[in-house]
Amino acid sequence: MDITRIKQMAGEKAATMVHDGMIVGLGTGSTVAYTIEKLGERIKTGLCIQCIPTSIQTAMRAMNHQIPLTSLDLVSHIDITIDGADQIDPTFQLIKGRGAAHVREKIVAQVSDLLLIVADQSKCVSALTGPIPVEVIAFGLYPVILALKKMGGTVIVREGQKKDGPVISDNGNIVIDYTPDFLFDPVLLESVITMLPGVVGCGIFSGFTKKTRVIIAGDTGCRIVPAQSEDNGTGLI
Ligand code: 5RP
Repeated sequence: MDITRIKQMAGEKAATMVHDGMIVGLGTGSTVAYTIEKLGERIKTGLCIQCIPTSIQTAMRAMNHQIPLTSLDLVSHIDITIDGADQIDPTFQLIKGRGAAHVREKIVAQVSDLLLIVADQSKCVSALTGPIPVEVIAFGLYPVILALKKMGGTVIVREGQKKDGPVISDNGNIVIDYTPDFLFDPVLLESVITMLPGVVGCGIFSGFTKKTRVIIAGDTGCRIVPAQSEDNGTGLI
């Protein structure tokens, strides 16, 4: 099956898990784009929700579908956030940020009751490897690059497409992609990278495993994967 059709299945399935009155976090990327489209259709037929976008791209997509938007200063929590991922390990630790939206995505995930990840099955890995997107303020770029290289691995400053020079995030910062030689401990590495002065945030999401659920789509359809600790053998939770 075509990969876009597979992403569509996962994205649309997530939209069915949104109910009237919910505050919904909207992640960024090509899979969540299908969730946004489906939510737009449901809103036209009466679904009443308010959404918080995690990027300029998502805000624009939501506005195109007449989805009501709100902001973090106006809500105390988010009921559900639907987002994509680049790598998902069996315990639901994630790597995110291919679209350079991981800083806002992590903030929104933090205040969400449920983080629903939508992905095609190629995103499921036995262990996270990277590359790990790291957002850095320009002033700290070279010290951060040096520190990451000292830890072992390769660092690439992400280049724009149809724009010369580095990618600038929605927050006005530079994004680098760090591939460690070994990624033994995502919790430790997330904390070490995040503590480097100049780093705004990194794409390891190790702290949300308990509230994460994953919708995986593939050639044979789409299913909700329980966390390993919750697996009841049915593929459903
Ligand atoms: C953006 C992200 C995306 O959610 C992630 O890259 C997955 O994207 P896609 O659904 O296009 O594969 O983290 O920063």
